[in-house]
Amino acid sequence: MKNILTIVLILLFAGCADNSENDKKPLPENAKWWKEAIIYQIYPRSFKDTNGDGVGDLKGIIEKLDYIQSLGVTAVWLNPIYTSPNDDNGYDVSDYKGIMSDFGTMEDFDIMLVGMHERGIKLIMDVVVNHSSDEHEWFKQSRSSRDNPYRNYYHWWPAEKGKPNYRYSLFDEKGEAWKYDSLTNSYYLHYFSQKQPDLNWENPKLRQEVYDIMKFWAEKGVDGFRLDAFQFAAKDTTFPAFPEGFEKNFIDYYAMQGNLHDYLKEMHEEVFSKYDVMSVAEGAGRNFEDAHMLVDEDRKELNMAYAFEGVDIARPDGYELRHFKEVFSRWDSAFAKKGWLSIFLSNHDQARLVSRFGNDEPQFREASSKMLNTFILSMRGTPYCYYGDELGMTNIGFETIEEYQDIAAINGYKKVQNQGGDIEEYMRNLRVSSRDNGRTPMQWDDSKNAGFTTGTPWLPVHENYKKINVKLQEVDESSVLNYFRKLTALRKANPVMTYGDYSMIQPDHPTIYAFTRILGEEKMLVVLNFGEKQSSMGLPESIEIDKLLTNNLNSMHRDGNLINLQPYQALIFSIN
Ligand code: NOJ
Repeated sequence: MKNILTIVLILLFAGCADNSENDKKPLPENAKWWKEAIIYQIYPRSFKDTNGDGVGDLKGIIEKLDYIQSLGVTAVWLNPIYTSPNDDNGYDVSDYKGIMSDFGTMEDFDIMLVGMHERGIKLIMDVVVNHSSDEHEWFKQSRSSRDNPYRNYYHWWPAEKGKPNYRYSLFDEKGEAWKYDSLTNSYYLHYFSQKQPDLNWENPKLRQEVYDIMKFWAEKGVDGFRLDAFQFAAKDTTFPAFPEGFEKNFIDYYAMQGNLHDYLKEMHEEVFSKYDVMSVAEGAGRNFEDAHMLVDEDRKELNMAYAFEGVDIARPDGYELRHFKEVFSRWDSAFAKKGWLSIFLSNHDQARLVSRFGNDEPQFREASSKMLNTFILSMRGTPYCYYGDELGMTNIGFETIEEYQDIAAINGYKKVQNQGGDIEEYMRNLRVSSRDNGRTPMQWDDSKNAGFTTGTPWLPVHENYKKINVKLQEVDESSVLNYFRKLTALRKANPVMTYGDYSMIQPDHPTIYAFTRILGEEKMLVVLNFGEKQSSMGLPESIEIDKLLTNNLNSMHRDGNLINLQPYQALIFSIN
C-alpha cells in the first residue's frame, strides 16, 4: 500500500560494494592518470621519525610505504624536503637539489622513490619558487653588491629612489613586504617572511635555473610538481602604488600579474612537455577565467589548479552548508566541459578536516570524518587527502602562543600586538584555525608519542592518540581508516566517481548535500548529512535507487525515495 508509510530498516555494513578488479569499466577519451589519481599529502616533519630526533624523516616514509599503499591512494604529494633553515618548515629553500639534513639523504630519497614506484604510487614534489630562503647562495650573492651577477635574481629597490610603494607581506610582523638592507642601501621584496625573499621571474636566467632544478627531479623519476604560491610569481617590476584601500588585496592585486602565463608556457615547453609529469599550481587566480587560462589543455600551461574558495568557507565560527554546496557546485560546473579541478578540504595550511568541517565531539567524530572523506572521494576532480584525516585526527588547539611553532601564528601574534589589536580574539581564532592544528605528529599506535618518535616530538602529539591511532583502527572493521580504504577502492573501480557529470539535488536543503554522478550507463547518488541531527530528503522521482554501495553507519532508513539520515550519515547508491 503506497500511502502507508513503511520504514524499511536495512542493516548493512559499510562498504558493501562489489569492486571486482576484472569488472573494468570504460574510460572517457580524455582520461589521464592524474585525473584518476587519489593523492595522499604527507607533511614529512610529522609523519614518522626513525632516528629519534623528534622530526619525521624519509626513512620514516620508507618504513610506512606498505601502509600508504594499503590506503588505496595512488600518489603522494610531499611537502618540501629540500635543504632549508626552516623558517617556514621547508618553504624557505636554501638548496633545491639537496635533501634537508633533518629528513635524511639523497640516497634515502632514491630508495623512497623506488619503493613508491614498486607499489604503484607516484610522487609529487613541492616546488617553492615564488621565493627562496635568504640563506640560498643566490640570495647571499645577490645581496652582497649591486653589481653582483645574481643581483637580478631577486627584487631590489635602491633606497635613493625613496621608499618603494607599499606591498603587503603575509608573514611579516609589521605586514611590510619591503625589507631595508643597509649593505647595499636597498630594499628587497618578501611576500612571505623576511627570510623568504621573492625571486625575480622577469629574469630569464633565474627561470632557466628553476627549469634545470625541475628537470633534475624529473630525471630522477618524480611524477609531478606542485607549484607553491606560484600565482604571485610574476610582478610588475615598476611596483606601482595600488589604489587606496586595496594595498593588501592579495588576490586582485598580487595574483596573476605581468607575464605569468608566458612563464608557465615556457615551463611547460622546457619541463612538462618533456616528461610524463603532472602539474598543479597552488591558487587558481582571481576568477574562473584565470583558472581556465591556467589549466585548459590547449593553453599548454598546467594540468590543474588548487582553488581556495571551497576550503575558505569554514570560518572560526563555522560555515553554512548551503554556501558550501553552492561554491563546490559552481566550481564543478565551471570546469564541466574544459579544465580540471583539485578537490580538498584540508592540508598543512589548515586546521584538521573533522574539527573544521565536521564535528570532533566523541559521539560524532567517526561518522563526520567518514562523511567528509566520502565527500572528497566522490566529487569530480582529483582528490587530495591529508595525512591523519584517514583516521579522523583532530585539532590540538594550543592555549598559549609559546606552544605554537608556526611562523604565521607567531608573527601574526606580534602583528596584532604591534597594532594594538584584540589578542584574546586572535588566540581564540588561532586555537581553532591555526596551521599547527594540522601538523601534529601522525598517530601510529598507543605507545609513547603515538609511535611517531622515540625522542621529543618537534610539535606535541595530540593527547587523544591512545584512542585515535592506526594500530587500533587497523583491527576495527568499521574504523575511519577501513572506511577510507573502502572509499578509495570504490573510486578506483568506478570511473564515474572521477569523470561522471555532477548534478546537485535540492540546493536549498540546509543539512543534506546530495548529488548524482553520471557517466554513460554508470550512475551514482551520493547523500551526505552534514548536520548533527537526523534529517530526511525526498529524492526526485526520476531517480530510481538500485543498490547501496557504501554506508558510513550500520543502518539505513529508506521508504522508497524518502531517505532518513542519521547525524553525519553518508550513503552512496548506484541508481538506474
Ligand atoms: C604556501 C604553502 O602551502 C605554505 O605552507 C607556505 O607557508 C607559503 N606558501 C609560503 O611558501
